[in-house]
Amino acid sequence: MTSNTSAASNSNASSSLHDALHITVQPAPGEKERVVLAYSGGLDTSVCIKWLQETYDLDVIAVVGDLGQEHDGLEAVKAKALATGAIGCAVIDMREAFADEYLTCALAANALYENKYPLVSALSRPLIAKHLVAVAHAFGAKYVAHGCTGKGNDQVRFESSVLMLDPTLKILSPVRDWDLGCRADEIAWAAAHGVPVKATAEAPYSIDDNLWGRAIECGVLEDPWCEPPADIYTMTTDPVSAPDAPAYVEIAFEQGIPCALDGKPLSLLDIIYALNEIAGAHGFGRIDMIENRLVGVKSRECYEVPGALTLIQAHKALEDLCLERGVLHQKLALEQTWAESVYNGLWFSPLKEALDAFLGHTQQCVTGTVKVKLYKGSCTVVGRKSPFSLYDFGLATYDADDAFDHQAAKGFIDIHGLSCKVWAENRLANDARMPAFADVDVTNAACRAVVDEAEDILHDAGKVCA
Ligand code: ARG
Repeated sequence: MTSNTSAASNSNASSSLHDALHITVQPAPGEKERVVLAYSGGLDTSVCIKWLQETYDLDVIAVVGDLGQEHDGLEAVKAKALATGAIGCAVIDMREAFADEYLTCALAANALYENKYPLVSALSRPLIAKHLVAVAHAFGAKYVAHGCTGKGNDQVRFESSVLMLDPTLKILSPVRDWDLGCRADEIAWAAAHGVPVKATAEAPYSIDDNLWGRAIECGVLEDPWCEPPADIYTMTTDPVSAPDAPAYVEIAFEQGIPCALDGKPLSLLDIIYALNEIAGAHGFGRIDMIENRLVGVKSRECYEVPGALTLIQAHKALEDLCLERGVLHQKLALEQTWAESVYNGLWFSPLKEALDAFLGHTQQCVTGTVKVKLYKGSCTVVGRKSPFSLYDFGLATYDADDAFDHQAAKGFIDIHGLSCKVWAENRLANDARMPAFADVDVTNAACRAVVDEAEDILHDAGKVCA
């Protein structure tokens, strides 16, 4: 499903980048070496710009990815990068690629790390890393850098992705390496080194978001007993104040990819935006979990993922209808491996690629429509249909139309259980230990009560009949 960018579009992309950034393709002789930094506009990555210049004497090219995160204007972020000393800053709209190349695969895998978390941040890192590498190549940079801390998953994802895409690039991790002390010290360092610092109160949470959802951690959430305060949520309504009337939405899929809402054809990107709105308004998609990070730490994480969870739920429901049992069962096991690989930063690994091949193949017949009901914090699948439906009414019904061969079940069970029956006969002949049933006390009070009650019912029924 991951499409390869053609050489032509690659060179188009880099020539338009050159036009936009006014930076030469290669550092001229005597010029500084370059580093390409994943830049968000926050304090950490702003300090990174100055720190990389001062510590390693590098020219910094900043890359800002638009992945659908909440922001007050990415041009302002770019202006800040330049004001802080970056020699160039590329704001790159990655939303469509994120939806079409990353979220389609995540959906094929019904990807939920530890059965809960739809990999919001984990999915975005390899895409950003891919752009860092491309920009490094376009501008002759030998270094790439990120602003992750030393105890999270994101450092692993950035660095593993970069080293799989171009193992010759050197990766710098300023926040992990610098010794700037606590946040107040960092702010003081920033002010002293000409990094613009907003005079706002420190944000109480650490947030990472994109169109697949929002991750919220730190602050009072570090106490796993503390209920998440209302102010952590921006995408979802409190279910208590969600509308009293449910909303029904019909989601159509074509080969596993969402393609229409309520009969209206839409791009995946627009479907995600629309479902974030409607599911969020009905209070669906909040997660509060204890999560196992790759680096060995358990952390308390809160997420709001209204669109992602709605789509995964609907997609699973369609697969239930369309996938042959053996494929479905095997897929369930591989989905776990897929989610774990991506969580652990192995997006570009051969294992993940091979899993995509299997998962992609299974999606050929996942075409159809699922009806979901959103109501006060819940999302329930209430209908599904598909031309590839393997649901056979004649086989399933208990009515007169029943086409299932009940007598065939007898021979099936005899043969299905045959090897274990041979085993049991052998155990019996050897007086060996068998699965126990003697511990079922049919004379105890509870059993007696059931029997009494049954007798009463029979007795009363007899009286009624008589
Ligand atoms: N725990 C999640 C993950 O590893 C989210 C991390 C996002 N970072 C944040 N600052 N909230 O994918």
